[in-house]
Amino acid sequence: MQLDDLYRRVIMDHYKNPRNRGKFDDDAVTIELNNPTCGDRISLQLKVEDGIVKAAKFSGEGCSISMSSASMMTDAVKGKTLEAALEMASKFSSLMQGEDVEFEDYEDIEALSGVNKFPARIKCATLAWNALRKGIEGTEEKH
Ligand code: FES
Repeated sequence: MQLDDLYRRVIMDHYKNPRNRGKFDDDAVTIELNNPTCGDRISLQLKVEDGIVKAAKFSGEGCSISMSSASMMTDAVKGKTLEAALEMASKFSSLMQGEDVEFEDYEDIEALSGVNKFPARIKCATLAWNALRKGIEGTEEKH
């Protein structure tokens, strides 16, 4: 199997069987963000305790790239410190700039590496990660 095909499968798997899709019933940090180029929206919820992302959930509508990226991100940041989650977000930005970065803890994310060749889709892939950043910055401001 070609790497491109493998990556496509990983992306479609997350799109069709999204991890962490839904909402928490109780209090959680909630971030609403939209992709200005298409109007698609994501609502991200983070449960943070003692500086650690205990859980993350998302809802919203968007293309396969944006929704699969949200599925991967919410899975990948679980159990991470806020600092480590932010580091992952900046690593993801590097991936979108075409840099050769690896996600040892969550390799599925590397399936989105091809997106950097399609500038219009970069905003789709980064939507969830931007929401994460915003959520973490909001959490840190409270302390
Ligand atoms: Fe709207 Fe991708 S086309 S998020």
